[in-house]
Amino acid sequence: MAFDFDTKYPSMEDLRAKAYKKMPRFAFEYLDGGCNEDINLHRNTAELREVKLKPRYIREYKGANLKTTLFGKTYDAPFGVAPVGLQGLMWPNSPEILAKAALQHNLPFILSTVTTMNIERASELTNGNAWFQLYNPAEDTLRNNILDRAAAAEVPVLVLLCDVPTFGYRPRDFRNGLALPPKMTLANILQILGRPHWAFNTLKYGTPTFETLKPYTPEGLNLKQLGQFMDQTFSGRLNEERIKPIRDKWKGKLVLKGVASEEDALAAIRLGFDGIIVSNHGGRQLDAGEAAIAPLKRISEKYKDQITIMMDSGMRSGPDIARALASGAEFTFLGRSFMYGVGALGNKGGNHTMAMLKTELQQVLEQLCCEKVTDLPNFIL
Ligand SMILES: Cc1cc2nc3c(=O)[nH]c(=O)nc-3n(C[C@H](O)[C@H](O)[C@H](O)COP(=O)(O)O)c2cc1C
Repeated sequence: MAFDFDTKYPSMEDLRAKAYKKMPRFAFEYLDGGCNEDINLHRNTAELREVKLKPRYIREYKGANLKTTLFGKTYDAPFGVAPVGLQGLMWPNSPEILAKAALQHNLPFILSTVTTMNIERASELTNGNAWFQLYNPAEDTLRNNILDRAAAAEVPVLVLLCDVPTFGYRPRDFRNGLALPPKMTLANILQILGRPHWAFNTLKYGTPTFETLKPYTPEGLNLKQLGQFMDQTFSGRLNEERIKPIRDKWKGKLVLKGVASEEDALAAIRLGFDGIIVSNHGGRQLDAGEAAIAPLKRISEKYKDQITIMMDSGMRSGPDIARALASGAEFTFLGRSFMYGVGALGNKGGNHTMAMLKTELQQVLEQLCCEKVTDLPNFIL
């Protein structure tokens, strides 16, 4: 097998362990944690891994092809970078690193509303291929302005998030006083001093800020005021009335992210979405919820002919991606995994993680004697 990544870190667990050593604790815990008692965080991966695939060795085989067509564009593999907020706080310049790697690997990159790179830059770095995830703005004017910017930047796919009607209850972040920029408490200063590479890069790239939101954010707000501003500006709670003007205005593809029930999948179809991402936000919102693989199977059975079905939450490897695809996802996204890669290996982390996942997934298809990604459901046990 040929490797185009550093085989010192051949698994996600290697990257996670290395990222743990390189990131300040408050940043690593923001990335790594779920919510409440982390039950759903662990359930996502554990239940996904109950999916088993059956190899078929004695047959004609022409080789594996990972290429996957989604919304009219053919990507090199059936996975992409999920939207993640505050990326530059976790690793300086990380959204740029991941956007560039996604372009190089021909994979989709989704920019979060609340990350540290703006829509225009994401589009520039990906030759107009970056998708944009929208937190629902409370105000129509702000919403329309952001949609106009995304359209002007030629964003092909808008991803509307529905699973943050309230912020997740995340005890580690409360304890760490997580904020952007980081609060300079003694504990945080000590953590930063122990992570010189992170500190050096933060100085080099400057204090991370919510780049897309800069034009709307009053200058000189203290942290408390910034928090209040964000609360007033965004209302994550969605209903049909709020969704309709977005569908009317947005001419590109529209995807609903955070679908975890058949009812919401049906609503997405009725409201004219082109796709859904079945997701529980990586177990960061509802600790008492199901693993994402469970609604994925039900939704795919019922609605796969009516809407494009994608999934995220819990995948950490090529076999995990294969399990999700075999269970009815047409495409997958990973959140933490790419950030573990960048936290571990800096500028090389995006390429490393993408190359590693491609190699792992390719091996699974070859082992199953499966030729293309869309055939994976035929191999489920
Ligand atoms: C640190 C962190 C920040 C996130 N921020 C956002 C965000 O701003 N917008 C969004 O739609 N999803 C956000 N998500 C959720 C991811 O897009 C994705 O649903 C989740 O990470 C998938 O689970 P996984 O991490 O197990 O792959 C975030 C996830 C993490 C881990």
